[in-house]
Amino acid sequence: MRIGQDIIAELQQRLDIEEVVGDYVTLKRKGRNLWACCPFHDEKSPSFSVAPDKGIYKCFGCGKAGDAINFVMEVDSLSFTDAVKQLAQKYGIELPEEEPEPEELQEHQEKESLYIILKFAADYFQQLLKEHPEGKSIGYSYLKERGFPDAIIKKFELGYSIDAWDGLLKAATNKGYSTDLLEKAGLIIRKDDKTYDRFRGRVIFPIHHPSGKPIAFGARQLITDKKQPKYINSPETPVYHKSNVLYGMHLAKKLIRQHDNCYLVEGYTDVISLHLCGIENVVASSGTSLTTEQIRLISRYSKHITVLYDGDPAGMKASLRGIDMILEGGLLAKVVVFPEGEDPDSYSRKVGATAFASYLKEEATDFVVFKTKLLLKEAGTDPLRRTEVARDIMGSIALLSDPVAQSVYLRECSNLLNIDEAVLMAELQKLLRRKKGQDAPEAPDYAPPLPQAAPAEPQKATTSEESLSLQEKESVRLLLRYGFHQVGENLPLHRYLLQEVAEIDFQTPVYREILDLYRRQLESGQVINEQYLLQHGSTAVKEVVADLSISRYELSEAWQERHNIYTTQETDHLEKAALQNILRLKFRLVRTLIRENQQQLHTAGTPEEVDQILLVHQELKKAEMELAGLLGNVIAG
Ligand code: CTP
Ligand code: MN
Repeated sequence: MRIGQDIIAELQQRLDIEEVVGDYVTLKRKGRNLWACCPFHDEKSPSFSVAPDKGIYKCFGCGKAGDAINFVMEVDSLSFTDAVKQLAQKYGIELPEEEPEPEELQEHQEKESLYIILKFAADYFQQLLKEHPEGKSIGYSYLKERGFPDAIIKKFELGYSIDAWDGLLKAATNKGYSTDLLEKAGLIIRKDDKTYDRFRGRVIFPIHHPSGKPIAFGARQLITDKKQPKYINSPETPVYHKSNVLYGMHLAKKLIRQHDNCYLVEGYTDVISLHLCGIENVVASSGTSLTTEQIRLISRYSKHITVLYDGDPAGMKASLRGIDMILEGGLLAKVVVFPEGEDPDSYSRKVGATAFASYLKEEATDFVVFKTKLLLKEAGTDPLRRTEVARDIMGSIALLSDPVAQSVYLRECSNLLNIDEAVLMAELQKLLRRKKGQDAPEAPDYAPPLPQAAPAEPQKATTSEESLSLQEKESVRLLLRYGFHQVGENLPLHRYLLQEVAEIDFQTPVYREILDLYRRQLESGQVINEQYLLQHGSTAVKEVVADLSISRYELSEAWQERHNIYTTQETDHLEKAALQNILRLKFRLVRTLIRENQQQLHTAGTPEEVDQILLVHQELKKAEMELAGLLGNVIAG
């Protein structure tokens, strides 16, 4: 759907960045701005700031910056349109009705109906748990026996389904919901000519979409009855695809990002137990092996997964493949193993919250190391089997996308396996070549081992393009900050600067875009400033504006003002600063042009062409000298 400019403008009007960002981090006021620990990278002291008056944020640690819409795009990994939709909903702005294809429309409406029915069912089950005699005496007391406090029952929206064939069926049809939709939602079963509830006499664990909507249910039996499955789960429905869903994600996503780590457990009750220990960055794969979609879902919030295993060696070996998939997805994996016979749920109860939390911290082992140790223990001293293990481990290491991590693991595994690093390296190279596939050049089967320490990356020199771009950025900064300051009689800085650069174009697209906006404004006599650019600029423009308009030193500036301490300010020398900027800009542009001109020498075909290029070169060199002279005067003067 395309969202009109008017909607975006209205949203910008109503947006309160403090409120939007405040949903994700705790902001504290310091000086003119608000500060918090950055939600985009791990840090202990706050370098993430929000300027409420300007409606923008900027992190001095990782450099991310933008307005409220950018923030939501970034923090929830949404497209621009989806971020606007989400914010519009928050601020009660109505979006125009979409006009999708009739088929699409029907599908969309059906999904909406299913969400409504599923929410109804979730409420119904919760109510039974609290109010129905059977729910209270059987369901609620079961949960209490397991040590679930009321607050946690509420947080996870746990419920109870009474032991009847038509409990939900009756309640829902009384509400007017059709049996067709109830069946599509996976709540009732129609077999032969019978129609009945899927969940009967069980505790209900609703499964949620990351946005918090219930989309399915897991229902646990209360007494161990081997003839019945322990859990009955919703089937696949138009709104529930098991392989895309992780239990508990709606409660965990914010914390996964904050801790930059996601704990992965097996069962519903494991998730709940971790919450009881105060650990909320946890999701469950619900007893099946991890899928690539689930890994992708986690990677939206963090690139680190810590897998918590029941102390069951067979189960551990079975899930090694799942962890290889995590590595393949570009994430890093750690593993925590519990003592034999314990799972996160039972173990946390046994040792208590504090000891459990430190257990997770202390026992978390890197996956590659863990796998090596596990397989080695099995292989014993058999040399052939040890070689097999080495090959298997190199397979895991080959999945990593980071060559530095690869070499670190290689060394570690060489120690564990007691195999020379060079030999392992050769094996790894072979696998990497194979991974690259047919298109890779033919290479000998033996690759010489790489030197132990990779040479340090050569210090990158700033290219003339980079310095030019920096100078363009400085022009934009001056325009934004001091555009309306006078630099001569009746000459605001923006007019002066634009006059001086009238014949040149900025090379960096985003700065050129800003310059063009200023130029157009001069023509039409409109006022242009930060606010204007934040509302009308592209995402890239907004990022630049946000970046340039929050200053790290605002706090101390404000403090100085209050105490009447005046230091030399940029405004005292604006004229000089503007002139310097213009000269530097031209100087760097000339340098870039010189280089480009020189490059044409390589392709010049005729002597005439060469002459022409040399002529241009001389002219440019003259200009360069002249500018250098002027610059020298300004700087010295
Ligand atoms: N599971 C399932 N169907 C089953 C058994 C298990 O769907 N018949 C899934 C559930 O998602 C369950 C997970 O596998 O949460 C882990 O199984 P298990 O450890 O047996 O269940 P817990 O939820 O841990 O339950 P409890 O603590 O009560 O044993
Ligand atoms: Mn379990």
